[in-house]
Amino acid sequence: MAVLEGLAQIPSAFPLLVAVLVLVFVYLHSTGVSKAEKANTPPGPKPLPVLGNLLLLNLKKPYDSLCELSKKYGSIFTLYFGPKKVVVLAGYKTVKEALVNHAEEFGDRDVAPLFQYLNNNHGIIFSNGENWKEMRRFALTNLRNFGMGKRKGEEKIIEEAQHLMRVFESFKGVPFDTTQSVNYAVSNIICTIVYGSRFEYDDARFKAMVNRTNENIRLVGSTSVQLHSMFPWMKALLTTIPHVIKNVRDNLRDIDSCVNNVRETLNPQDSRCFVDSFLINQQNKEKLEQNAGLFNEKNLRFCVGNLFAAGTDTTGTTIRWGLLLMAKYPHIQGRVHEEIDRVIGGRQPLVEDRKSLPYTDAVIHEIQRIANIVPLNLPHITSRDVHFQGFFIEKGTPVIPLLTSVLRDESEWAKPYTFHPEHFLDDQGRFVRREAFLPFSAGRRACLGESLARMELFLFFTSLLQRFRFTAPPGVSEDELDLTPVLGLTLNPSPHKLCAVGRS
Ligand code: HEM
Repeated sequence: MAVLEGLAQIPSAFPLLVAVLVLVFVYLHSTGVSKAEKANTPPGPKPLPVLGNLLLLNLKKPYDSLCELSKKYGSIFTLYFGPKKVVVLAGYKTVKEALVNHAEEFGDRDVAPLFQYLNNNHGIIFSNGENWKEMRRFALTNLRNFGMGKRKGEEKIIEEAQHLMRVFESFKGVPFDTTQSVNYAVSNIICTIVYGSRFEYDDARFKAMVNRTNENIRLVGSTSVQLHSMFPWMKALLTTIPHVIKNVRDNLRDIDSCVNNVRETLNPQDSRCFVDSFLINQQNKEKLEQNAGLFNEKNLRFCVGNLFAAGTDTTGTTIRWGLLLMAKYPHIQGRVHEEIDRVIGGRQPLVEDRKSLPYTDAVIHEIQRIANIVPLNLPHITSRDVHFQGFFIEKGTPVIPLLTSVLRDESEWAKPYTFHPEHFLDDQGRFVRREAFLPFSAGRRACLGESLARMELFLFFTSLLQRFRFTAPPGVSEDELDLTPVLGLTLNPSPHKLCAVGRS
């Protein structure tokens, strides 16, 4: 059905017919790997010409369909998204073994045609090779220097949580949609690291950047963009694609303007933020023997854009899932309140309090597990031929290390489909780490903002819960609060309103 909805955007059937015939021809005449290797390819359902296995997928919940298919075909199987052959890795053990023990072979990014066109191997998320390595290394160092895991970062998050709580307070317990204010708060953490300053929540340019970014993350996971990845010739026929491109271009224009503001006050002796550091590297390029050319304007724009996009939607969405889950399960919220009141009282929660708040910590982990916000992971591709778990996977094969199947692995979690903070507690009520907790993925492509995100989730969540009780709007029962996610590249809660009732 979802496929048909996507196709409904196509104005005329004729170009489609021609393209389908060309594809059938190419499909029937294409030859793959040798017979012996082919016999060793991971198993999977028989594909139809052109459509491949699309009819087996619910494109509105592809991650659920893939989990179902893994029950039939095993933890490593082949699937055809249209004509595109993909290998799916399912379950904690297989995903971990591939991404960690075969990090090199499974560590490249599969860049969809839309991002090849837009990014042209710049930035971090959608690049490979030397460019990726250098930009990732540089971004990690600078995230550490300007925030992640440091006292300075903690202060920035605490300050931003105060701004967010003032907005929540202004609703005086009346139901409101948490989306924008939470996203603006989280985005400001990245902006402080990247540009050295935050924005007011009513700054028109800032709001437009955050809103366009979130819209694109939703659109990139939509059926029409998925169709475009399988059938790139459809670009001219799908109206979503120009919309995504326009959003990216508008954001790049605004990034240029923010970068230029930083550039005007640059002092090479005093690096204040990520952009300063990048510009200083650019100026010193004769001193850098290797990779000097990589510190170019395009990489600057796309690194900033990547950090902004990856750092805003993900953390903001997780916090919103957390507040919704607290309203849905008031008895769990009550235990969090009790622990915060008992251990911290009225003072500001700090990162070092985490170890004294095992229940709250377990709740935050369980929110991430059940929210499963990057359900398909970001797509990987094999960088060389791989022999893995007795199968042969050719170089250049797109791979989905399916995070849903890890976070809901029935052999790892006592209650995979239930919100159950006890997954992270021992029988003494102490916090326990769980190996299968991989919302940030693993291996060389693992989320590079993990430490920052974990610090943000802890400080925003405890600060908000210390101050407020979150409830369903009057007249709506907890049972009626809907946990059905909205499909995008990340999974967002369905539109909803909550009441933030002051606790003092
Ligand atoms: C709850 C919050 C977050 C979650 C669940 C999350 C999850 C992920 C996942 C699943 C990936 C793909 C890993 C892979 O391909 O195997 C990823 C990549 C990435 N994340 Fe995050 N992320 C979060 C927050 C952040 C933040 C705050 C930042 C920025 C500071 C960030 C920056 C990135 C970048 C740059 C990549 C691309 C890494 C690469 O391609 O080498 N993320 N993230």
